Amino acid sequence: MSTISHKSPPPPCAMVIFGANGDLTKRLIVPALYNLARTGLLPKSLALIGVDHNKKTSQEWSGGVKEFLAQILAKNSEEIDDALWQQVASCMTFLSGDFEKPDTYARLKDLLADLDEKRGLGGNVLFYMAVADRFFATIAGKLGEAGLVSAEASSINKEGGFRRLIVEKPFGHDLASARALNACLLKYLKEEQIYRIDHFLGKETVQNIMALRFANGLFEPIWNRDRIDHVQITVAESIGVETRGKFYEATGALRDMVPNHLFQLVAMTAMEPPVSFDAEDIRAKKAEMFKAIHPLTLSDVVRGQYDAGIVGDERVKAYRTEPNVAPESAVETYAAMRLTIDNWRWAGVPFYLRTGKRLAKRTTEIAIRFKQAPYALFRETPVEELDADWLILRVQPDEGIRLRFNAKRPGPAMALESVAMEFKYKDYFKQAPAVGYETLIYDCLIGDATLFQRADQVEAAWALVEPVLTGWAATTPRHFPNYAAGSEGPSAANDLLARDGRSWRRIN
Ligand code: BG6
Repeated sequence: MSTISHKSPPPPCAMVIFGANGDLTKRLIVPALYNLARTGLLPKSLALIGVDHNKKTSQEWSGGVKEFLAQILAKNSEEIDDALWQQVASCMTFLSGDFEKPDTYARLKDLLADLDEKRGLGGNVLFYMAVADRFFATIAGKLGEAGLVSAEASSINKEGGFRRLIVEKPFGHDLASARALNACLLKYLKEEQIYRIDHFLGKETVQNIMALRFANGLFEPIWNRDRIDHVQITVAESIGVETRGKFYEATGALRDMVPNHLFQLVAMTAMEPPVSFDAEDIRAKKAEMFKAIHPLTLSDVVRGQYDAGIVGDERVKAYRTEPNVAPESAVETYAAMRLTIDNWRWAGVPFYLRTGKRLAKRTTEIAIRFKQAPYALFRETPVEELDADWLILRVQPDEGIRLRFNAKRPGPAMALESVAMEFKYKDYFKQAPAVGYETLIYDCLIGDATLFQRADQVEAAWALVEPVLTGWAATTPRHFPNYAAGSEGPSAANDLLARDGRSWRRIN
């Protein structure tokens, strides 16, 4: 994993973005490149080729993207720095073409060879599939057939160069489709050429979990079943499905968030220490952790769907009345589960996970609850009534770390109260403006796969949720909608923890 501030620019290369007119390109990829330019981390020689089906000139493409960038920067009261923008814009070439037609790839090959010669790109190409997932296999296959992903057989540059491919989420829809997609990609590419993105791993605070665990002697001895009672991982969103009704009806909360984002948070929290920060060492430890997760059954999971309600001050509608959603939809907008990890570190320590849309607040956190003091020293306050100690890793918003513990309230009586020690990123670090894709793109450009998912990891994650997907598909949920928008989720999720004598933290 790269620590950007100490790095130098990546080698010269071409970056080909399929889906050049899409939201992802405009909102995240190009703004991330602009931010890399401001930290001096754009390749010194770069060709940015945008491929999409519309007819456009390169100027029209860069002009459209620039407007988006201006809007994004305006949110931070910033304006575009023309010199920096020129660095990005001067690399941009638009290629109009149908992703399904071989002719597109033949023209792309000529364009790459031409730009490679003019700009001295060393034959290096990073392909980025910023398109709907139904195109992933097609594009990878057509790139393969055109001889574009194999450096050896390349006519782009006789010297070779690297060929890498970025694949966005969703990677498959279930285990079978993820396996099929892996097989398609691996027909033409080697595993080390494939970069499967999970954008949660681009979040600074997620990367910081490793720093917290492995750079501090303080936490290592307590990071296990001797000291930890259980872990709660919450990814709560206050937004609804917005304009994504069609996508969501075919997806649901479990597929959308759990085998990818939530499981990555579990992996960062629960994996064994790797022997080095080398991508393969870290990915091997994560894979081991996935293998140790006990198979899920339907009694370990809860699903929910939001009804109308109030979020903040706004009255919002029920999921079933959102655009492109079926009036009797059985699709879940909330999922909670209890995971157990069958290894020496975590035996007997449940991991409770929950995620949902239209919850009380937007918050992503990993909360680690420590075991109670062993003996009721404070006679008036039985041990089980003392507030527990918690370590809370806040991923977003208000990124930081909070430690909650008991302290004596001043005064003659021995009264205890839960207090907090707090570290907030913004108090300590001046953050470079970021959209969350900077590290991910930079790492692809330098060939560091630490923050990307390997084929076996993706398949292991799908295999874990597969019994739940099948079970849910076979039964109609009885009480949908079962939570009000703006609430903390369905009451069945509370029962999941109550069974173990525990309760969720408030979503706040
Ligand atoms: C995406 C999901 O992968 O992650 C969305 O498809 C979700 O449904 C989003 O809203 C959450 O990401 P973030 O970075 O906004 O927390």
